[in-house]
Amino acid sequence: MPSVKIIELDREINIPEGDTILQGAMAHGITFGFVCGGNAACGTCLVKVLEGLETLRERNSKEDFLAKAMMLDPEFRLGCQTEVSKAPLVISIVSLAREQRP
Ligand code: FES
Repeated sequence: MPSVKIIELDREINIPEGDTILQGAMAHGITFGFVCGGNAACGTCLVKVLEGLETLRERNSKEDFLAKAMMLDPEFRLGCQTEVSKAPLVISIVSLAREQRP
């Protein structure tokens, strides 16, 4: 099962291949924004992929639509739409990063 390291929490979790980052985080009791319920409409589940971006599938059409509207750089992905592949990831959860800023 691939590992996903979350920088803000200094924590590494295992998420089954094919599950989304959001599903995997919630299964480990880690909560972050998902105002629209995981429907690619709010952007509150945004993560920045620091390592492993090249191993992920391209954005699906729902994610691509919101990413264009938000003018997101490629390394920013929606946690509710981004499925974990076989490879490990290192991510930053944008909402947690904002909370930790002085
Ligand atoms: S939960 Fe709303 S876009 Fe992901």
